This record gives sequence, C-alpha cells and structure tokens, in this order.
Amino acid sequence: MHKWMLAWNLKNLLLELYLHAIFLFGSVCVVYSDCTPEHLAAIMNCSRQDRHTRNYDYMEGGDVRIRQLFSRTQWFLTVNDDGNINGTQDPTNCYSILEIRTVSEGGILAIKSIKSQYYIAMNKSGQLQGKRIYNENCNFKEVFLENYFNAYSSAKWTKNGKEMFIALSQKGRPLRGKKTRRQHIASHFIPMKCREEERRID
Ligand SMILES: *[C@@H]1O[C@H](CO)[C@@H](O)[C@H](O)[C@H]1NC(C)=O
Ligand SMILES: *[C@@H]1O[C@H](CO)[C@@H](O)[C@H](O)[C@H]1NC(C)=O
Ligand SMILES: *[C@@H]1O[C@H](CO)[C@@H](O)[C@H](O)[C@H]1NC(C)=O
Repeated sequence: MHKWMLAWNLKNLLLELYLHAIFLFGSVCVVYSDCTPEHLAAIMNCSRQDRHTRNYDYMEGGDVRIRQLFSRTQWFLTVNDDGNINGTQDPTNCYSILEIRTVSEGGILAIKSIKSQYYIAMNKSGQLQGKRIYNENCNFKEVFLENYFNAYSSAKWTKNGKEMFIALSQKGRPLRGKKTRRQHIASHFIPMKCREEERRID
C-alpha cells in the first residue's frame, strides 16, 4: 500500500461539505474538497499531460471542467487505455481525472478521461464502454439529486422508457444500464475538485 493512497470515506467527505462552500458553476454542481499534496500533485501532473494532447482534440467549444466523479459506493470513476470503465479507490489515479464538457443545453455532457482520452459511452444495450471518437452515445444528462449527488443518464438510450445511468457497484464495477435506477446509490456521484487547485489559480 502506497502511503499516498487515501482511504476515502464518504462520511468524512460529507462532513466536509457542511464546513466548506458548495459552488454552482453554470449548471454544474461541484464539491470542493481538501486534498493532500500528493493528490493535488497527481491532478496537476495529469492535467499537464492533457495540454500536450489537447491539440489533437477535435471537439472544441462548450464549457469544460476538470473533475473527479466520486461514487456514493465510494469509488472514483476511471476509463483506462483499453476503454474499460471501472472504479478506483486511489484518488491520484490519472485515469480518474475527467474532462466534463457541456455539449448542449439541458445539462447534456460528454465525459472523457484526460489520460486515456476515452469518452464514457453507453450503447443501446446499456453497456458502458470507452470511446475514442465522440458520438451521440457519449452524451449524458446530468440529474441533480438531494445531498449534492448527481446522476448521469444516457441522453440517447432508454430501456422500456426508463433512463439508464452510469453506475458503479459496491465492488467498483460498472453496472448494465438496464439494471440501474435513479434512486440506487450505485448511480449517485459527487463531482469533486481540490480546493487547493482554485487557490493556485488565484
Ligand atoms: C507525472 O506523470 C508522469 C508521466 O505519466 C509520471 O511518470 C510521473 O510519475 C507523474 N508524477 C507524479 C508526481 O504523479
Ligand atoms: C476494476 O477495479 C477493481 C477494483 O479496484 C479491480 O479489482 C479490477 O481488477 C478492475 N478491473 C479492470 C478490468 O480493470
Ligand atoms: C454494447 O457494448 C458491448 C460491450 O462493448 C458489446 O458487447 C455489445 O455488443 C454492444 N451492444 C450493442 C447493441 O451495440
């Protein structure tokens, strides 16, 4: 176990929420959390790599934010170099640093891992997969829930009229969209950012 690996504890995170301000950034909610220097260094490092690849990013425009999505089941969402979607409990994992871009009104977003440059996509059968090339399957609708949690439903596909959500199980595995529900904790995420990042920019 590396010493910089943090045992993330949702109860502590939620406790912090009451101590720190919550900012509403456009339509997108973000929770500012105190991060360790290691966590911050990793995020800065991962973001630097993004600047090298940005030239190759054909998708321009839209409001872009760098966030980590922390699930209510206590995992950070990742998309690796094979396009696999999974959870990690290591907050310094580069694949968990996500670029969240507004693609159209009504809270429609595209979510991409900076390191792998794969977008999160959901196909017709509700399977989550990473996609190198952006298409409509990469569009998700951000739904605001109580207690600062958000849910992300496919903007393209539904199953028998029901929304299908990005969800991570208790074991950090992605769930099939048709097994997900808005009320299930597996579908609940907090978009997080280190408070220290803001201070640096100031
Ligand atoms: C920064 O990124 C490079 C390239 O991926 C990696 O080798 C290095 O270990 C990273 N440094 C930190 C502090 O995370
Ligand atoms: C997904 O994450 C879990 C928990 O960290 C890990 O045990 C598993 O090997 C990962 N699976 C893949 C395909 O990366
Ligand atoms: C959805 O994605 C999965 C995993 O990549 C694939 O096995 C399946 O065939 C896809 N289904 C459709 C309808 O595209």
